[in-house]
Amino acid sequence: MHVRAALVVNLERRIGQTVTRFPFADRPRLWGTAVSHYQVEGDDLCDWSDWERAGRTRGEPCGGAVGSWRHYETDAELAAAAGANAFRFSVSWSRVEPSPGHYDDHAIARYVRLIEKLNTLDLEPIVTLFHYTHPQWFHATTPWTSTASVERFGAFGKQIAEAFGDRVRLYVPLNEPLVFALAGYYDAQIPPGLSDGRAMARVVDHLLAAHCAAAAAIREVNPQAAIGVAHNMMAFAAERRWNPLDRAIASIAHRCYNRGLIEAFGSGRWDFLLPPRTRVRGRRDDLPASIDVFGVNFYSRLHLRCPGRERLIGDFAYRDTTGFGFTDNGWEIVPNALDELLIEATRANRPLMIMENGLADAGDRFRSAFIEAHLDSMERAAERGITVHGYLHWSLLDNYEWLDGFGPKFGLYEVDRATLERRPRASVETFRSAGARFLALKGGGAG
Ligand code: BGC
Repeated sequence: MHVRAALVVNLERRIGQTVTRFPFADRPRLWGTAVSHYQVEGDDLCDWSDWERAGRTRGEPCGGAVGSWRHYETDAELAAAAGANAFRFSVSWSRVEPSPGHYDDHAIARYVRLIEKLNTLDLEPIVTLFHYTHPQWFHATTPWTSTASVERFGAFGKQIAEAFGDRVRLYVPLNEPLVFALAGYYDAQIPPGLSDGRAMARVVDHLLAAHCAAAAAIREVNPQAAIGVAHNMMAFAAERRWNPLDRAIASIAHRCYNRGLIEAFGSGRWDFLLPPRTRVRGRRDDLPASIDVFGVNFYSRLHLRCPGRERLIGDFAYRDTTGFGFTDNGWEIVPNALDELLIEATRANRPLMIMENGLADAGDRFRSAFIEAHLDSMERAAERGITVHGYLHWSLLDNYEWLDGFGPKFGLYEVDRATLERRPRASVETFRSAGARFLALKGGGAG
C-alpha cells in the first residue's frame, strides 16, 4: 500500500471516521487570496458603519475603503497576476437586502460581474455569505437571538445561489461564527455589542442552524455546489510552562475556541464551557452533512496566564518564541503551530483548506518567510497524512481592519488610499512561487 494512503487510513482509525474527498476532481488544490466585502468595497451602510458612527472603533472609519466596489476587475486581475487559481470574497448582505425581503438587483448584478470576471481569469470563486456585517434593519427585526434569523439568512442564501447559478462551486455561508458570537454577544466588542452568555449560547445555535438553512437552499438551487465553513483557530500555550494553572487555562481555551466548533461540524453536537460559567451546548443532526470542506483561518498564538483579569481566557500575551518575530500589530508569527491545528481540524471529518492566513507587515519584512514557512507546515502535515486542499492568503490588498481602521497592512498589494492605486509588494513573487510549489504537491485527491 502507498505510504500516504496508509497514513490516511491510520488517521481515519484515530479519528474513527472516514475522510471524504475534496469536491473538485478537476482542481484538487486551490491557491489564492481572500478579501471581505466591508473591508475593501467602501460606502456600505450597515450595522458596522453605525458602530463606527457611534464611536465604537479605534481607527478611522471605513468610508470608501479601498474602492473595490468599483475596482473589482482590477482586483481580480491582480490576484490572477499573483499566480492564484482561487479568489475568496464575501457578499454584502446590506447591499443585497437593503430592507427585509427586498433584494437589490443592481447590487446582485455587480457581484455576478465580478464572478464572471473571475471565471474568465480561471479563478475559482469562493463566496462567503456572512463576514461579520449585517443590514441596518437586522438586529431590530430578526436578531440572531431569534429563530427568525435562521429563515432570513436561508432566504438570503437562496437568493444569492439563484443569481450566481453554476458560476460558483464553493460557498462559505459563515466566516468565523464563533468569533462573531463571542465578540458580538459575549464581549460586546462588535455589533450588536451584547455581553450576555446565555444569549451568546443561543446565537451559536441559530448561527449553525442558519448555516444549515443556507447550505440546504444553495444545494437545492445548485446541486453541484460545495459548502464550507471558515473557522478561526488560534494556538494556545501556557505562559509559564511549569505552572499547572497556566497549562489548564491554555487547554480550556483550546477546548472551547478551537475544538468546540470542529466537534460540532464533525459530530453534530457541541458542548463547551466558556469561562467563567457559560455552557454552550447543542445538537444539530444535519450539521455534519452540511459541509464538504472544513476551512481553517489561522493567524497566531496566545500565551495564557492564570488567574486572569481578562474575563474570557485569563491574561494573554504574544511572545516571540520561535524567532520569526512579530507582525506590525504585535502578533507572534508561529507557522510551526499550524501542523498541530490541522491535525485537530481533522476531527471535522472533511477535506481541509486554509481559508485565511496572513499578517500585518507594511514594510514587507516578514511576508515572504511567513508564506514559505506556512507552506512548510502544510507539507509536514502532508507527511503525517493530512492533505490541505487550499490555501488562501489574507489578504490580496491592504484593507480596513475592523476595530483598528486602516493601520495594519495585510496586503500582498499595497494600496494608496488617496489614489486607490495598487502596487505589488515584493512578496507577491514569493506568493507566486510558493503557489507553484503548493499546486505541484502530490496527493490532492483524498481527504
Ligand atoms: C477575519 C478578517 C480579519 C483578519 C485579520 C480574520 O479573522 O476574518 O476579517 O481582517 O482576521 O484580523
